[in-house]
Amino acid sequence: MIEEGTRVILIDGKGTKHFAVAERKMLEVRRLGTIDGTAICGSSFGDDIAVAGHSFRIMKPSVMDILSQMDRRAQIISPKDSFHIPMHMDLGCGSRVVEAGAGSGGLTIVLLKAVAPAGTVYTYEVREDHAKVAERNVGRSDFASCWQLRMGDVCQGIEETDLDGVVLDIPNPWDALPAAASALRVGGHVCSYVPNANQLESTVRKMREVGFQDLFAFETLQREMMVHDRGVRPSCDMLGHTGYLALARKMRQ
Ligand SMILES: C[S@@+](CC[C@H](N)C(=O)[O-])C[C@H]1O[C@@H](n2cnc3c(N)ncnc32)[C@H](O)[C@@H]1O
Repeated sequence: MIEEGTRVILIDGKGTKHFAVAERKMLEVRRLGTIDGTAICGSSFGDDIAVAGHSFRIMKPSVMDILSQMDRRAQIISPKDSFHIPMHMDLGCGSRVVEAGAGSGGLTIVLLKAVAPAGTVYTYEVREDHAKVAERNVGRSDFASCWQLRMGDVCQGIEETDLDGVVLDIPNPWDALPAAASALRVGGHVCSYVPNANQLESTVRKMREVGFQDLFAFETLQREMMVHDRGVRPSCDMLGHTGYLALARKMRQ
């Protein structure tokens, strides 16, 4: 049963998704206009409701849905890359992770999905304007209670200790690696995302210098397949290069 305050998506006959928060009152829904929210409250996910003579299926938004409707200021890490990060870092419910910077909060939401409801993501950010956008986006997810925003430069130090992971999406991740090494528990993982190969090289060299082990650097390529009655072929628009991921592990104090 959908209760007041629950986030939902209303999917029309063409598959278009409309985001709403269930409330027993008239709701403003982007691209739909004003709708009566009482039809949503008390329904269940998977039910169809009628709005202005059209039928909409009510579903719970997935992480992909949440990412697709985020406000953007800084470029987010694409899901094709960010979805790899929690698994490679062995994060799960209860994990404690530091991330820098917040940017638009895209990676933050992916990390929160992995560690909630018992874990915490601590996000360091130097820019107030980016922090505000990230706050707005994380606030639209169900995970805000597991998030702590820290205004500050991650390269100057990390106040948390005994962390399970540190993820860096900043231009100079090598400068934050000594702080990451001090803040991680033995066995904890560090991950860096950089768009350029020279940044990747500097990062991996510094990971080795600081004493991280079990290094693994890679990029992902994703090609959507179009499956039609008349044939199956790749989409003409491929998401090509985005960035490189470098991962490593703290093996001793
Ligand atoms: C590319 S954006 C991060 C995007 C984010 N990962 C996402 O998926 O939405 C990089 C962010 O790092 C912040 N930043 C850069 N250097 C930093 C530092 N030393 N400490 C904390 N934040 C930093 C920038 O202000 C910017 O908001």
